[in-house]
Amino acid sequence: MNRKLKIAGLISGGGTNLQALIDACANKQIYNGEFVCVGSDKLDAFGLTRAKNANIPTFILGYKEISSLAKSSPGRIHLNTPHDFKLEEALKKSDLPDTEENRKRLCIRAIVEYQLLNELKKYAVDVLVLAGFMRILSSYFLDRFQPDPAKPKVLNIHPALSPSFPGEHGYEDAYDYGVKVHGATVHYVDHRKDTGPIIDQSCYKRLQNETIESFKARGLMIEWELYVNALNLHCENRLKIITNPSGRRIVEEIPRKIFANR
Ligand code: GRF
Repeated sequence: MNRKLKIAGLISGGGTNLQALIDACANKQIYNGEFVCVGSDKLDAFGLTRAKNANIPTFILGYKEISSLAKSSPGRIHLNTPHDFKLEEALKKSDLPDTEENRKRLCIRAIVEYQLLNELKKYAVDVLVLAGFMRILSSYFLDRFQPDPAKPKVLNIHPALSPSFPGEHGYEDAYDYGVKVHGATVHYVDHRKDTGPIIDQSCYKRLQNETIESFKARGLMIEWELYVNALNLHCENRLKIITNPSGRRIVEEIPRKIFANR
């Protein structure tokens, strides 16, 4: 049997998705992976307690401190960026307009992402799962952690059926729009927001007179199962990136039977 992949998680909040993934590793629903660390940009994120309860080491990413530093000495934040950070390149690869504010934002991201790269190195992490992590990872991090575009290693769960309703408020936006079918998407992370190759999606029907609370709660339950299955496929090495005739990179699932015979 292959060695287990070392999984890291990043969270910002309650961490119910993280919990589902931790449980799935513990009960061998994900048999080829194990959590080695969990990071957060928020000191009080409950997901950190979930990780600690499962004896998984945790770390905090210093977005808050670095943002304060940038505020107190504007115009100098670039002096703290990693030696191999190239602002123009990061700007070009992002979907951000070229403004002073965005340049500063990318510097802040690179400084914290340098810390993140070191944490992941420390635990020899093979795969990173974003589970309600409310920050964007820039090309500085992505190009270093997953240098081979054919072998992505960062997964995210998005609370909508991509490419509909990108951004942080998938449930609220879809509910307001009046959709009759909603769902969630697990995808690999690329340089842009919620646009990476889709691994899997799951959907549910909106009920008559459903409240936003119930709409969200039912969606979240779908997310847990979806994320467990997607991470399991990744850990089993059953996901392949192919380029389709339109030039788009998409994910193909390798059926278990064929995989077993390889
Ligand atoms: C989920 O809806 C996820 O799709 C989104 O943020 C939420 C996190 O929830 N990215 P939890 O922290 O996993 O409970």
